[in-house]
Amino acid sequence: MVCLGNICRSPLAEGILQAKSEAAGLGWIVDSAGTGNYHIGENPHPTSQKVALANGIDIRKQRCRQFVSEDIDVFDRIYVMDTDNYQEVKRISGSKWKEEKVELILSALYPGEKRNVPDPWYGTEKDFHLVFELLNRACDKIIQSYTKT
Ligand code: 4NP
Repeated sequence: MVCLGNICRSPLAEGILQAKSEAAGLGWIVDSAGTGNYHIGENPHPTSQKVALANGIDIRKQRCRQFVSEDIDVFDRIYVMDTDNYQEVKRISGSKWKEEKVELILSALYPGEKRNVPDPWYGTEKDFHLVFELLNRACDKIIQSYTKT
């Protein structure tokens, strides 16, 4: 799960997909990172923590890190929150870039539409709830695509 700061959106996405993968018995290792270096070592944004907890998900222990090119090899799938993150993941990956592994997370809900998860950084708590709902629905679709018989 990748966004710009690894402080608002991708920590929520990590917590949501981790919880759903555990509930589905998939046992995935889910992680998140930011393309920027502004918040390395910090815990998620307090409002992301609050909204996650209100939905039964504890992301308080997560720590921000920056995306590195090795992530392309380590992870099977990389979900980005917006098209800027997509371009940055491509740039940071350099020669390791593997287009087939990287996807806009909202393509799970709106295939082909190139929709972005809106950045709530300058927003209000309502914006964080909207992000949670979008990611919750997208992660349901992702889990479904791996559990359909
Ligand atoms: P995120 O939001 O990419 O969802 O974590 C942001 C967090 C911090 C900044 C921008 C976006 N920032 O400019 O510091």
